[in-house]
Amino acid sequence: MTIPRDVERRAAELRKQIEHHNYLYYVLDSPEIPDAEYDRMLRELQHLEDEFPALVIPESPTQRVGAQPLKQFNEVRHELPMLSLGNAFNPDEVADFDRRARERLGEDEIEYAAEPKLDGLAISLLYENGVLMRGATRGDGTWGEDVTQNVRTIESIPLRLLGSGYPAVLEVRGEAIMARAGFELLNARQRDKGEKTFVNPRNAAAGSLRQLDPRITAARPLQFYCYGPGRIDGGTVPGRHSELLARLREWGLRINEESAVVHGAQGCLDYYARLAAKRDALAYDIDGVVYKVNRADQQRALGFVSRAPRWAIAHKFPAQEEMTRLLDIDVQVGRTGALTPVARLESVFVGGVTVSNATLHNQDEIERLDVRKGDTVVVRRAGDVIPEVVSVVKEKRRRGARRFRMPTHCPVCGSEVVRLEGEAAARCTGGLFCAAQRKQAIRHFVSRRAMDVDGLGEKLVEQLVDSGLVRNVSDVYRISQQQFAALERMGETSAANLVAALEKSKSTTFGRFIFALGIRQVGETTAHTLAAHFGTLDALMAADDEQLQQAPDVGPIVAQSICTFFAQPHNREVIENLRASGVHWPAETPAVTRGSVLAGKSFVLTGTLESMTRDAAKAALIARGAKVTASVSKKTDYVVIGENPGSKLDKAQQLEVPTLDETGLLKLLER
Ligand code: IVH
Repeated sequence: MTIPRDVERRAAELRKQIEHHNYLYYVLDSPEIPDAEYDRMLRELQHLEDEFPALVIPESPTQRVGAQPLKQFNEVRHELPMLSLGNAFNPDEVADFDRRARERLGEDEIEYAAEPKLDGLAISLLYENGVLMRGATRGDGTWGEDVTQNVRTIESIPLRLLGSGYPAVLEVRGEAIMARAGFELLNARQRDKGEKTFVNPRNAAAGSLRQLDPRITAARPLQFYCYGPGRIDGGTVPGRHSELLARLREWGLRINEESAVVHGAQGCLDYYARLAAKRDALAYDIDGVVYKVNRADQQRALGFVSRAPRWAIAHKFPAQEEMTRLLDIDVQVGRTGALTPVARLESVFVGGVTVSNATLHNQDEIERLDVRKGDTVVVRRAGDVIPEVVSVVKEKRRRGARRFRMPTHCPVCGSEVVRLEGEAAARCTGGLFCAAQRKQAIRHFVSRRAMDVDGLGEKLVEQLVDSGLVRNVSDVYRISQQQFAALERMGETSAANLVAALEKSKSTTFGRFIFALGIRQVGETTAHTLAAHFGTLDALMAADDEQLQQAPDVGPIVAQSICTFFAQPHNREVIENLRASGVHWPAETPAVTRGSVLAGKSFVLTGTLESMTRDAAKAALIARGAKVTASVSKKTDYVVIGENPGSKLDKAQQLEVPTLDETGLLKLLER
């Protein structure tokens, strides 16, 4: 069947447009048309090709997923071997690398191209006359696997190069990766289907590319970043690595947006610091940075040593995952009685620190991991996140390793452990009889935003509870200076200071006092709201469910929790004892009855105040019946502006919300 000329032309035009928009979307990350429009063009092309099958060419955007599943991958030979990189683990090793290069080249300072070291797998793409002919894995560097039909499904890999001027044979190399968000999504999908999940994005990327059925690969969120050239024939490319990358981007390949040109070892180290600070905010995992001598002539002069170039080096970040042995699983009891299983580990250096404990979260997580005492486990510590066990190396499990069971009774006080419907945590039912909960409750009680007792740290609280001196929070006010002085690591002076700090803390505010009680569901803001609403402790303790829910932002769950707390005779007793010890606060007239000018008004605070902290200002406003919220909206009554205000000031001006300076605020508070 002959193809009408206008159909042929239309198909060519559609391909060009689709390729262009594909490039804008996947390579430059700046789409210009809505997805629906893109889909419409693709459908129109598909339609034409269905009608005139002779129109179909392999590099057509409709042909990304086409081929049948393979029986096995063919081997391909890399005519130019795919090398690896030497590693530097500290600034000295980077300086050595730079010095060696300078000496060999006889230069004072070297220009480097610096790039993230992406954590995926190396891929070679071969373009002949601009058409993608082959995609291959690195393999052993000389022999890799032909994964052409899989790489074709990755949208950031052009099936045909854009523009013109590319060499007749252009091989490029780069990293196939999976972004963290895509990885999470894939694992969630795998879990839903009851299929195996992946340990990390790199494994997921590798597993996805090594699928014999390209339809599976197509459904995996893979991306490709090009980081350099391979074989080049029949044409020339720019003489600087950075310019070559820029040219490859024009030809349609995705180049990492963090790439930069830097000068000398110091330039490299500054780049490293910059990227290290950004590491957790990137959308994908990187395990270091790579420095490459930028000038191609200098690269040639430096050449190779064994399997790695002398002109490039990888500067590794501290690993965020390491293997170690799980010695035991302990169970910790928190303030609310929640039982947290904690892995005791053989110490291991990971994420820049030595780790010997990692959280196992809860029973469900332990079952998901199937982690057992004695197992070899992978521990992860990324950024400021607490270390966690991410997987178990099952092959290394010893025979007879037994499953872990959450205890049915509290390991500290022996009370029954329950797990409520819909809750992840199992809890000790011992309440304040449980020493672990008591310790946490006391630490909370004396903390800065609660009773603010200086000098009563963790170790001291442990001693006080373990020695039986303190059974509940009210006991801390009954301990004499002599008793404190007799404790470990306490001298006369510290004991005297502590007694003074305790004395000082007795003069507090109602809001702080409520917060200090540690009622479940009652955080700092709710505590201050309750104080403002009810005004007196007696009113609060007498309030029923319905009255509680009339306070701003108190719903049924919070109300229930407050009722339950005050219904316990031992809690009432503790409160009486606290009052008897002299804990007091200025009387508050509840906002509702006082007719405070601030009652019901909504405030936003921004910038630094001179005469008080923002927390104090917030508490003062709440105590007068006002609400303090985090962001400015049309409903905001005032925005209080301190030194160096943030974008909230702009927002206030934009929405024409009245602003107040510190003096204005103080006047309002005095009224
Ligand atoms: S250049 C001759 N640049 O690191 C230079 N490699 O240990 C060859 N990698 O297998 C590599 N990001 O998969 C280079 N920006 C980057 C890279 C990078 C990740 C991987 C690559 C290679 C391994 C080398």
